[in-house]
Formats: sequence, C-alpha cells, structure tokens
Amino acid sequence: MSARSRMRVAPKRELIMRRIIPFLIVFTLLSFRSVQSQSARSVWDGVYTEGQAARGQTVFTAFCASCHSASEFNGDPFLGAWDASTALDLFSTMQTKMPMDNPGSLKPEEYVDVVAYFFRGNAFPAGKDELTTDREQLKLIRIERKKS
Ligand code: HEC
Repeated sequence: MSARSRMRVAPKRELIMRRIIPFLIVFTLLSFRSVQSQSARSVWDGVYTEGQAARGQTVFTAFCASCHSASEFNGDPFLGAWDASTALDLFSTMQTKMPMDNPGSLKPEEYVDVVAYFFRGNAFPAGKDELTTDREQLKLIRIERKKS
C-alpha cells in the first residue's frame, strides 16, 4: 500500500466514527436512564405478582410453618428487622439460613416466592412482573415501612 492510499483511508474512518459516535452517545444516555429508574425502586412499586405470593404461601406452609407462624413476618416484627434493607438481604438470609434444619435446600424460585408472600403480608402492592431470582435486581429493591 503506498503512502498516498493510506492517507485516503483516514478520512473514511473518521466519517464512520462520526456516524457511530452519536449512536453511542444516545445509547449511553438511554442505558443510564434505565439504570437510574431501576435504582429508585422500593417494595411500594409493585415488585411481585399475586400468583407468585400465592405460590410463596404454599412453599411457606410446606417448609417453614413447622417452626414459624406467618405473623412473624408481618407488620412490626418484620419491618423492625428488615426496614431499610433490600429484597436481596432478605432473600440471601433465607437462602443461607433456612429452613434451619436444611439450609439452602429449596430452589431459588421458591425462596423468592416466599419473599413475595411476605411482601403481600405486609400490604406492599402486587404488580404485573414477578420478583426475579436475579441478585442484581433484588439488590435494587428497598424494603421500606412507608412509601417515600
Ligand atoms: C426447623 C425450624 C425452622 C424451619 C423449618 C424454618 N425456620 Fe426460619 N428460623 C428458625 C429459627 C429458630 C430462627 C431464629 C434464629 C435465627 O435467626 O437464626 C429462624 C429465623 C428466620 C428468619 C430471620 C433470620 C434472620 O437472620 O433475621 C427468617 C427470615 C426465616 N427464619 C425464614 C424462614 C423461611 C422462609 C423458612 C422456610 C423456607 C424457614 N425460616 C424455615 C427456625 C426454622
């Protein structure tokens, strides 16, 4: 390749970059926006579904009710312990410690369904999307006594 033809390549690349950069900027801004709206979530934003809470109740009855009553996880006892923590804190604690006689023996989906059941018990509103087992997502959901 001669020196001249190499020089002609540069402006072409520049042109391509000029076309790509605006897309990159828009893409970056859009993804930043979606991360921002995700980080603002709390249990008051409809983070589980009715069906999921119902499944969680079945899991609770089968694997937890031998040692716990559901009322331990409603109102003051629950909020006193979990207010200002995240759905991930609750999920992880249950997954690593419970059922006390066989910790971690349930599927991640079953633990997260029980979290949904506890949320319903505390009158946090249901929504249209289920609570997922994705730890990054769970970490973004704050447990709050009052809607802020
Ligand atoms: C064999 C009895 C037993 C079973 C079954 C059991 N638990 Fe527990 N759980 C306990 C005891 C005892 C404690 C209190 C001691 C502690 O916090 O470590 C406890 C504490 C907890 C806590 C509070 C933990 C903390 O560190 O704040 C949660 C939440 C919990 N259980 C959820 C569950 C769920 C959900 C299930 C069913 C999947 C379950 N437990 C099944 C005995 C049990």
